[in-house]
Amino acid sequence: MKIMVHRPDGSIEAVRGEDGLSVMEALRKAALVEGECEGALACASCHVWIEPEWADRLPPPDGAEEDMLDVAFNLKPTSRLSCQIMLTDQLDGLALRIPASG
Ligand code: FES
Repeated sequence: MKIMVHRPDGSIEAVRGEDGLSVMEALRKAALVEGECEGALACASCHVWIEPEWADRLPPPDGAEEDMLDVAFNLKPTSRLSCQIMLTDQLDGLALRIPASG
């Protein structure tokens, strides 16, 4: 499956994902996010903006994810922590943006 990633510089990269990986793990393999805490909801370095057409197709964030998102920079209504989104075949083509840092 593919994840369509819009980089901060405007370029788009198709990142290969696998069933059972988190979105963060796929993005980290491509050096697009850091994922410092390995998905333990302790860093927010895996923050992404989900494209609006995909936002409602994901399971909503739970309270722990929302608490950690509060410390992320550049929050938007479709902000998510990519370590909390597990890849399935239904997410083939998922489109997201990497927030500009700072
Ligand atoms: S990898 Fe740390 S919160 Fe997602």
